[in-house]
Amino acid sequence: MNPAPQILKARQVIGKTLIFRDATPEDAAFILSLRTDEKKSRYLSTTAPDIDAQRSWLQHYAAATDQAYFIIEYQDEPIGTVRLYDVRDNSFCWGSWILKDGRPAQAAMESALMVYAYAVDHLGFAAAHFDVRKGNERVWQFHERFGAERTQETALDYFYRLSLEAIQASRRRYAKFLPDGVTVAN
Ligand SMILES: CC(C)(COP(=O)(O)OP(=O)(O)OC[C@H]1O[C@@H](n2cnc3c(N)ncnc32)[C@H](O)[C@@H]1OP(=O)(O)O)[C@@H](O)C(=O)NCCC(=O)NCCS
Repeated sequence: MNPAPQILKARQVIGKTLIFRDATPEDAAFILSLRTDEKKSRYLSTTAPDIDAQRSWLQHYAAATDQAYFIIEYQDEPIGTVRLYDVRDNSFCWGSWILKDGRPAQAAMESALMVYAYAVDHLGFAAAHFDVRKGNERVWQFHERFGAERTQETALDYFYRLSLEAIQASRRRYAKFLPDGVTVAN
């Protein structure tokens, strides 16, 4: 049997038009601007509007070995964030997914496909799980179109799981957004 997959950081995960770059304490101001935007943060856990606290969170992250937090870049400009965390057997969780206004139209599809390409092809995961606020209807609809299945719900959240089959079917269906998977630079 294969050993249990682990989340690994990467200096860069390179897609078709986007690059994921490992987050650093220098990204504190950009991340804070996204996470304290009233509209974008509506369905996220609250972030204090405190640049030192954000920098300190990123310093802790730099030493962490169980998650990967990426700045999403387009044409050398940061346009968003995404994070892989919470390994459970062969499944990984992803979230902290935010794209700024003015993002290119393909950014949501390409960044989601890049997460799956990195996690499956490079890290060896065979499923994904995540939760989405019930009120965040556009986002859970996005995931359901990708084949996410609701496994549980609370008053506030839906919980989802994607099997490897669903992930690979969506990667094929939406291949025009990421025809060649991702390459990783360390
Ligand atoms: C979550 C988030 C990153 C998604 O990005 P988004 O750009 O809003 O995603 P959208 O659902 O609008 O999809 C973007 C485009 O891809 C298209 N698209 C979405 N799913 C598609 C599919 N299955 N096939 C083809 N196109 C698709 C959409 O139609 C849309 O195109 P349009 O701009 O021409 O309408 C963004 O909404 C965000 O930052 N939200 C705030 C933070 C948040 O709540 N994050 C989620 C919690 S983890």
